[in-house]
Parts: sequence; structure tokens; C-alpha cells
Amino acid sequence: MGALEEIKARVNIVDLIGRYVALKPAGKNYKARCPFHPDDTPSLMVSPEKGLWHCFGCGAGGDAISFLMRIEHLTFAEALAKLAQELGIELRAGGEGKTRLFQVNLEALRFFQRELRGPAGEKARAYLLSRGINESLWEKWGLGYSPSAWDALLRALSRFGVQTLLDLGLVVMGERGPYDRFRHRLIFPIRDEQGRVVAFAGRAFEGEPKYLNTPNTPLFTKGTVLYGLDLAKEAIRRKGRAVIVEGYTDVISLHAAGIEEAVASMGTSLTADQARLLARYTEEVVIAYDRDAAGEASSLRGMFILHAAGLRVRVASFPPEEDPDSFVRKAGRKAVEEVLAQAQPFHEFFLHALASRHDLSRMEGKEALLREAQGFWPEIKSSVLKLEIIHGFSNLLGLPPEEVQEALRGVSRPVPRAEEKGEPSLTPEDLVVKFLLEGKVPERVVAELLAEEGRFCPVYREVVRRWAERWAEGQLPDAAALISGLSPEAAARVSRLLLLELKVANEGQALEEALMRFLYIPRLTERMEEVKLAIKDAEERGDSEAVRRLTLEFQRLCRQRLELLRRR
Ligand code: UTP
Ligand code: MN
Repeated sequence: MGALEEIKARVNIVDLIGRYVALKPAGKNYKARCPFHPDDTPSLMVSPEKGLWHCFGCGAGGDAISFLMRIEHLTFAEALAKLAQELGIELRAGGEGKTRLFQVNLEALRFFQRELRGPAGEKARAYLLSRGINESLWEKWGLGYSPSAWDALLRALSRFGVQTLLDLGLVVMGERGPYDRFRHRLIFPIRDEQGRVVAFAGRAFEGEPKYLNTPNTPLFTKGTVLYGLDLAKEAIRRKGRAVIVEGYTDVISLHAAGIEEAVASMGTSLTADQARLLARYTEEVVIAYDRDAAGEASSLRGMFILHAAGLRVRVASFPPEEDPDSFVRKAGRKAVEEVLAQAQPFHEFFLHALASRHDLSRMEGKEALLREAQGFWPEIKSSVLKLEIIHGFSNLLGLPPEEVQEALRGVSRPVPRAEEKGEPSLTPEDLVVKFLLEGKVPERVVAELLAEEGRFCPVYREVVRRWAERWAEGQLPDAAALISGLSPEAAARVSRLLLLELKVANEGQALEEALMRFLYIPRLTERMEEVKLAIKDAEERGDSEAVRRLTLEFQRLCRQRLELLRRR
């Protein structure tokens, strides 16, 4: 067992949290007043069985380590060290131990790099070249290939001992012994800002999950590193700005085109740690995320996180359907520079993002927009920015600025009432994720959900991906294992889901209903929209055969939809 697992297994979450708040037993759980918000009813719930805590008032939650981090204002490593000391567990990540671990990661990298250039790497080489990533870039970014065997790395690095490879997440312990985490994948080393290899990401050539990452290790805490910062930091200083993108390939292509101030948040949820890291190098950041709905939500959230770290933020909009990688390849450096130069300032993007979600021709739409904006209002620190936003809304909605201001200030929103007293309000998406994490979704449906992970909101996508990684390895992940390493927002959402007791008579039926509303009906509706467009297109072309075929298809979809709706 690695030190981290040992700590997690041995720490008693009730004792730990009980040092800070007065816990009272409540069924198989414990309750207390939440220390993270003014709480006059006990909204904090602790489950010793699941090793989780969650506040149903303010929404905070996670495992023992995250509680300690939050209440003592510690980093992950500091909280771990504190617990280790109390439990008498030796952490081998002290100065000397860490140097050795970096050395082992470097050896692993060399192994992956050799494999890319060897006979087994043929397909990987062809793949990279087909994406325009040539040999000089392999070198610069340390790209590699992990062969298909279950024990290629394990054998090549056996001299360092299995435990070390397990600690670094390079090797996974299965029922029949240890095996390589990365198999038949393209390898992207993740380096810290000093260029030390802290983790790896492996991209599949086909199949799921698309990217597999090193879990949290003594060298790597998810959400604290920015991909490419080691190579970007000089350009960031020089140009006085950073460009933040989602993916590894976006960074590589932008750098290759001369936009060397690009870094990736790796996935969609930017964290406060990453924002603070950037703030050490620059004052201005341009967000350049993918333009899908999930991307827009992440941009909005990322914008607030960067703003809270004291950064000036703008949001760039590449053409829809393009990510920075595909766009820079097609359109070249100058076009990218133009898009970046035209990036919208905070207040403009905020206005547009909200405006696009409401029907502003109706009073209800205007009110709904102001209500949504009100939720963000306390997070906006700068008063200049607040003024800009008030004026923007005033123009947009045709309302006097004073009225807008009043609406936005509102009465400061009370902390939502502890929700376990009433009916827990779970959306269909919440329910689907809850059932998924509890292992109650049939395998066939799991595959369908994973194939359409884009439907999940960014926070849940992160959760579902982690769950799927483990599921793909044949384990049903337990809650505690899932939570550690999630961003604080995601950890809070998951702990809430897992601790809520559903009060439904028939779980199977509840799942079916949720899937209907979250997946089946929206999917059909989208397909119908597509077919409708195709019919219009065929009509314009005068292709009557296609019109006939598509109309039949449309009718078939209508019937399916009706049937689904009737089944509810
Ligand atoms: P994308 O799916 O946009 O991948 O996810 P990409 O980087 O553009 O990769 P290519 O170009 O298709 O090869 C963006 C980022 O989200 C994280 C990775 O950091 C990825 O670069 N991600 C994505 C994961 O961690 N796991 C996944 O399964 C998918
Ligand atoms: Mn992408």
C-alpha cells in the first residue's frame, strides 16, 4: 500500500472532523453545524462508512484530506504530511525521496520516448505525423509511446521496485498483480514549471477514455499544474499575457506556430491553484476554450476564477467546431493572433454568455437573466467592472441603470436551507450521475453515456471521466478513491450526490425516467433538428428522392419520440 492509500484507509473521518465541530450521531451518519458558513441548523453531514463529508447548506464537501485542507488552509501535501505524522506513517516524499521519484519519472519518460522510435512505435509515429506533429516536436514535448504489453514498463523499470512505480501511478495493482497503467497510448509528459516530469497523460488511438492521466501522487496533485508552463513562461513574461486552452495538442500546435504563451488547464475545469500559478508570471490571461456549450460554461467559470486571482481576463472565440489546434493548422498564426486580439473583455463575454441563454424579447427572460447574473454578483471584485456590467445590461435590456443595479445587488442571497429536510432537488443529470457512481447503471447504458460525455456539465464530466477510467480497468471505484484528486467544486458535488438518500419507491424506474430526460429525449430531438435541416437542404437542391427518404426518417423519429414520451 502506498502512503497515501494507507493514510486514507487509517484516518478516522469522524474523529478528525469532530476535533473542529460538535458531531451528533444521526442514523449511520453524523451531523454538525458547518464550520464553513454561518449555520444555525446542522447542515454538515459526515459518513464514516463512505469516508465523506458534505454540507447541504453551503455545498462544500469531500474526504478527510479535503476537510483538513480547507479548515487549516493547507495544501494537499501539507494536509497529507500532517495526517501522516499523526498516524505515524512515513512519507517518503521528503527532499531526498522526491529527487529519486523525479529520477524514476524521467527514466519512464526515456522508456516511452525509446518505444516511440522503436519498432512498436510505428503506428504512433504515423499518427503523430498525420496530425502534423513532426519529429522536432516529439523532442521538444518529450512525446512517447507506451507499448501494448501489460508489463513493458514494469519490466523495464523493475530495478526501482514495484512500490515506487505504484507510488508514481505508472503501475496499477490488479487482482493478479501489478500491471502498466499506460498501454498502447501516445504519451504526453506533464512537467511542472521547472520542467520536472510530475505526471503523464496517455492518449488512446481509439476507444475510451481518450486520455488517461496519472492519479494524484507525491509529485502530482491534479489541478495544480498547467501543461506547457515550463516552455511558455518566458513568452508569457515577454508578451505580458498568457493564453489558456483546454488540451495538450492545442498547446503543442500553438507553440509550433509561434504562439508560445499558450498553456493548458488539461480538461475543462480551471482551478484557483492554476490561476494563482499564472498570476506569478502575468497580469493578463486570454481564455481560448472550445466553443461547445460545455466550453462556454467553463469559460465563464474560468473567468471568475482568474478574476478572483487578480488577473485581467478576456475570452477568445474561435469559429464554432474548431479548437485552437485545428484552427491554427487551417488558418495559421496571423488568423489566431487576430482572434486573440479580438478576445472579449470580461464584462462583454459575461453579458453575451448570459444573454444567449435567455429570451430577452420577453420580460420573463430579462428577469431570469438578472436572477442568474445576481448569483455571480458577489464574486465580482472590481467596482469598475461592476459599473461596466450594469451599463451593459442597461443597454441590452432597455432598463435604467439604477434598476439593473438594484436587481443585481438584490437582497444578498441567503444560504439555501438545509436541503435534506425537504425533498432533495436533483436534476435528471444529478440522478444519472448518482446512479452511475453507485454502480446501478446497466453496462450497455454506461457505454452509451460515456460515448456522449459531452452532455454532462464540466464538473460532472470530470467526475464521469475519472469513474470511467477506473471502470475501464475493471474496478467499481469506491467513493473515497473517486473524490481525492477531484477539484474542490467537483468533490463537493459528488459528496452531495453520494450522501443524499433517495426517497423513491422504484429505483429502476427513477433511473429510466432520468435517462429519458437527460439522454434519450434530447438526443432524439437533436437528431430531428438535423433531419429537418437536411430536408430543407435537399428541397433547395431539388433532390426529391432525398426529401422522400429524409421525411420518412423524420416521421420514424417522431414516432419514437412519441413512444418515449408515452412510456413515462
Ligand atoms: P479534448 O477532447 O478537446 O482533447 O480534451 P484534445 O486535447 O483536443 O486532443 P485531440 O486533439 O483530440 O487529440 C481537452 C483536454 O481535456 C483533457 C485533456 O487534458 C485534453 O487535452 N481530457 C480529455 C482528459 O483528461 N480526459 C479525456 O478523456 C478527455
Ligand atoms: Mn480539443
